Amino acid sequence: MFTCWNFFFLLVGISNFVDAQRPDIVDEILPEVKQKNQIGYLNCTVVNKGSESVVQWTKSETVNGGNPILLSEDDKIVYQGNDQGINEDSGLKKYDIQSRTNGRRITYMLVIRYLAEEDAGDYLCTIKIQGVEWPEWPKKIGKLTVQIAPQIQPSINSIYEQNIGTSLQLNCESHGNPYPNITWKREDGQELPLGGFQSRGAQLNLTDIQRNDRGNYICVADNNVKPPDNFKVELIVFFAPSCRPVQSSVGQAQNRRFNAKLECIVAGYPQPSMVWMKEGENGKRIDIQDDDKYDITKQFSSQLQNDEFWYTLLVKNVQAKDYTKYFCVGNNRYGSGETNIVLFETMECQGSNCPSAGGSGTSGLEASLSSILLLGLLSLFLI
Ligand SMILES: *[C@@H]1O[C@H](CO)[C@@H](O)[C@H](O)[C@H]1NC(C)=O
Ligand SMILES: *[C@@H]1O[C@H](CO)[C@@H](O)[C@H](O)[C@H]1NC(C)=O
Ligand SMILES: *[C@@H]1O[C@H](CO)[C@@H](O)[C@H](O)[C@H]1NC(C)=O
Repeated sequence: MFTCWNFFFLLVGISNFVDAQRPDIVDEILPEVKQKNQIGYLNCTVVNKGSESVVQWTKSETVNGGNPILLSEDDKIVYQGNDQGINEDSGLKKYDIQSRTNGRRITYMLVIRYLAEEDAGDYLCTIKIQGVEWPEWPKKIGKLTVQIAPQIQPSINSIYEQNIGTSLQLNCESHGNPYPNITWKREDGQELPLGGFQSRGAQLNLTDIQRNDRGNYICVADNNVKPPDNFKVELIVFFAPSCRPVQSSVGQAQNRRFNAKLECIVAGYPQPSMVWMKEGENGKRIDIQDDDKYDITKQFSSQLQNDEFWYTLLVKNVQAKDYTKYFCVGNNRYGSGETNIVLFETMECQGSNCPSAGGSGTSGLEASLSSILLLGLLSLFLI
């Protein structure tokens, strides 16, 4: 009885005594999260480190499936990687070890500079004890995360040309750590073809493409590691021309050197070729050329949408034979479109270039007419 209990206490006492003397790693090794090119620190704090034990930092080479690499022994770096690990710019080494003693505790801080993606992973701190087998050595793992700002694969196509009614899938493959959130949106802030102003995910599906889907689409990759990356894709949609008049009928008085301005907006991609025509006496269409009688111009306007073009036809010195129907015709390889504008007779001058009613802007003809009248009146009085 006595021997049994005594022996038990003796055992507990011995194991306590052994524990107190045995080297061990205390505290967890805090995981380190740093961005690319920064410096990572991993602390391994040990107690009871005697001369018969060595503290080692080892990098587990999970990336290439290679063997673990022994980096340090106590406060000596034993591996520096390629080129001895010296950075060309700073002259500093890739790895460093700094130890600090605080009473019974010694902290071995592994310093990893110029963090790159391949530095991420598990680092093992081990106390190698002489005369003890490897499985019995105290070990702890420190995790190093290297954050990488998002990068969109530059290989993706940046211009797509599509026919009406076709479908297209835009892909935005990106890379980064953590894996970035990807959103698609339109550059002009308009709604996406399938609704909503943003679409989450690397893929953007466009189905039954219409001309209004034309424009720039932007994919943004963000993982909160600055800066986010983005990529612009231009969608071009081929479509046959369509034409619309600015005013479907235009009036002007005849024989008084007044001009009439007919305006037409042509839409199409590729840019349509545009012709003006008029209906002749026999109902036949006659091509109109830019000449003494007509001015044909292409205007620029901020009101125009993508692939819209504004054309004007100025009919100079409107005569009776000019009162007819005019056609605005657009053509491209996808087809043609047209609209018509009627020029009709009015009694008074129409438009912004008319002589004003007050008489200050009277034309030469009107001025001479009124002076003839005045002379007539005067001669009446004189008689
Ligand atoms: C590592 O230890 C050093 C001092 O030894 C301390 O300044 C540093 O904050 C510690 N870092 C971590 C990540 O625990
Ligand atoms: C886009 O379409 C493909 C197949 O057409 C489908 O697998 C995918 O889930 C779609 N993606 C979205 C975001 O709707
Ligand atoms: C992705 O977005 C979600 C929801 O907005 C957010 O909780 C998460 O942190 C984001 N992920 C990254 C890597 O930024």
